[in-house]
Amino acid sequence: PREQTLAVIKPDALEEHREEILEHIRKGGFTISRVKETVLSKEMAEEFYKEHRDKPFFTQLVEFMSRGPCMLMALTKENAVEEWRAMMGPTDPAQAKEVAPDSLRARFATDILQNCVHGSTDRERAAIKIHFVFGDIRSEGDVAGD
Ligand code: CMP
Repeated sequence: PREQTLAVIKPDALEEHREEILEHIRKGGFTISRVKETVLSKEMAEEFYKEHRDKPFFTQLVEFMSRGPCMLMALTKENAVEEWRAMMGPTDPAQAKEVAPDSLRARFATDILQNCVHGSTDRERAAIKIHFVFGDIRSEGDVAGD
């Protein structure tokens, strides 16, 4: 079935590798249904990665993700969650280079922290993250004020 995943081009890769990564996404048959380029606040980065808050690298991760612009995307395709994870490759680029040399992390990641891209692990989390990043589509016309 067609499904959506939340994909992020992280701050280490956006400046240098934006075009190559977007090219991969298009050639991979994904539709970029929604897109937002922004600098995450620390609070947003903490919320985004709250599943990892007890990990020893959490502080570093939040610092890294909020240090410059990210591109956040809802990608649509058949099997999007799994396909995007395959395109990214393993978390650690050293491992990616061995097992998936054509993957984005093998080609563009700096290290296990600054690993160029993110993708949701399953459909349920993808839906939660897409809602967190893009909000409720029905409220988009609402005007804040008064
Ligand atoms: P991501 O797939 O976005 O999910 C969690 C992120 O934490 C991961 O990519 C890396 O950016 C980071 N990360 C995971 N493991 C480590 C680690 N051992 N040391 C530092 N950062 C890590």
